[in-house]
Parts: sequence; C-alpha cells; structure tokens
Amino acid sequence: MRCSGMFRSVLRCLRINPVAGHRSMSQSSLTGKVAIVTASTDGIGLAAAQALGKKGAHVVVSSRRQANVDRAVALLQSQSIQVTGTTCNVGKAEDREKLVALTLQKYGGVDILVSNAAVNPFFGNTMDSTEEVWDKILSINVKASFLMTKLVVRTNKPGALGPYSVSKTALLGLTRVLAPELAPSNIRVNCVAPGIIKTRFSSALWQNEDIMDEFKKQISMRRVGEPDEIGGVVAFLCSDEASYITGETITVTGGMSCRL
Ligand SMILES: NC(=O)c1ccc[n+]([C@@H]2O[C@H](COP(=O)([O-])OP(=O)(O)OC[C@H]3O[C@@H](n4cnc5c(N)ncnc54)[C@H](OP(=O)(O)O)[C@@H]3O)[C@@H](O)[C@H]2O)c1
Repeated sequence: MRCSGMFRSVLRCLRINPVAGHRSMSQSSLTGKVAIVTASTDGIGLAAAQALGKKGAHVVVSSRRQANVDRAVALLQSQSIQVTGTTCNVGKAEDREKLVALTLQKYGGVDILVSNAAVNPFFGNTMDSTEEVWDKILSINVKASFLMTKLVVRTNKPGALGPYSVSKTALLGLTRVLAPELAPSNIRVNCVAPGIIKTRFSSALWQNEDIMDEFKKQISMRRVGEPDEIGGVVAFLCSDEASYITGETITVTGGMSCRL
C-alpha cells in the first residue's frame, strides 16, 4: 500500500460513559479530556498535542529524549495548554507502562490515545531490507501501537483473531510494494486470501457447530471451502493465463463478505 505507515489510533476510551463517537455540547471542546500522544515532541505528534490542548484537553507528551520532552512541555505551557511530559520509547514495555501510569496518577484516566510513534530505518529496494529492519518496523509501528492501546483500553472481546488478522493484512501491502519493484525482472507478485478452508489450521472453527452456524450466515455458499479450491487459484495466478495480473489480492471465500 502506498499510504503512510502511520497507524494513528484515535481512541476515545469509555472512561466515564460509552460515548465513543458522540460530540459533547460544544462540538469542538475537549475540555477535561485526557489525551496521550506518543512521539509528540516534534512534527505531527507535537502538532496533534497542540491541537488537542487548544481544544481544552490535558495532554501528556512523550518521546525518547528528555531534552525533547522538556522543550515540548515548555512550548505547550507557553501556549497555556495543560500539559505534562515524560520520556517514553514506545518500543520498551517499561516506558509504555510508565507513560500510562503517570497519566492515570495525574489525571485519573485516559480518554484519547494518539498512537503516533513510528520508525523507518530503511530506504531502498524492499528486497534489500533485512530481518532486523522488519523486526524494528513491525515492533514499533504495529506491535507497540497495539500494546499501548491494550494498556489504556481494558476490554476483552472473545473469539477475535486480532494479531493473526493484522499480520495477514500486512501481506496485502507487501504484495502491492513488491509487484512494481519486481515487475522489471519479469516477476509477478499476487496474493490469495482464503475464507474458511477445511484444514487442520482452521479445525477449531469448522469442528464447532455453533461457530460454524454463525459463519455460514456470512458465507453466500453456506459451506466451508476445500484446499483444492485454493490450490486451483494459486496455480492460475502462477500460470501464463495470469500473465497480466500482478499486485492483486484475490479473495476465495465462497462469498463471505470481505473484511480486507
Ligand atoms: N512526515 C511525514 O511526511 C509523514 C507522512 C505520513 C506519516 N507520517 C507518520 O507521522 C508520524 C510522526 O512522524 P513525523 O513526521 O511527525 O516525525 P518527526 O517530526 O521526525 O517526529 C518524530 C517524533 O517521534 C519521536 N520518536 C521517535 N522514535 C520514537 C520512539 N521509538 N518512541 C517514542 N517516540 C519516538 C521523536 O522524538 P525523540 O527523538 O525524542 O524520541 C519525535 O518527537 C509517524 O507515525 C510517521 O510514520 C509522517
């Protein structure tokens, strides 16, 4: 995907009442709300903290370097924004916990989380990127966003496949990125996204009648797929019949509504 890698999660947590998405009496006022903005001592994060603060929110700014935190706090205070700050490298568990603990101790809750931190230690051809680069980017840009969210949102919805789904969604982006890079080498890159296929991997789903009854309501063909119904699509994409297809994701789901 060509869109930015920034995952900006803007969460209005249900601290007092479940009003996510509601507007308060004054449409623009965030008076009394508490906002954590990560990586907020410069750039977009600082601008977000400033904008939230100007609408009346208490903002908690942070980044890795104390000097940057001090500078940002001083700047925001000079604009009469209610602000506190601490160091927090979002890649470190103890730093994330310290940030949330400080916020809870000072303000008693969190209403807004702007998960703004991201790194990009690599510019160049994707094929030249190393495992270390991937670990760093996914750890900071994806995993830390979730772990920050988890620290401030205490809900637990059973049955979801969160981390798995996120990892698979990333492959859509990988397909889009690699396709143009490898096209000059006459290599096509496509992705197959199966629905529920009857294998050991998904046995927890199709062996459970209650779960399957629910799923079948969402599958137009009212049945799970067979492995060879995926194999055929893979073979098609790899064949000359697909010689003009690259960068695509084909869903093979029996008509299950697509959540990609
Ligand atoms: N600028 C763009 O054109 C653009 C476009 C699309 C998306 N984005 C996204 O916007 C977000 C912010 O980027 P930006 O352009 O505002 O960057 P920026 O101006 O370079 O600011 C980066 C901020 O992040 C802090 N930081 C860096 N690594 C951190 C870490 N591991 N933990 C906590 N804080 C960290 C830095 O302070 P310290 O050095 O003190 O840690 C600094 O405050 C990122 O998610 C980026 O992917 C930017």
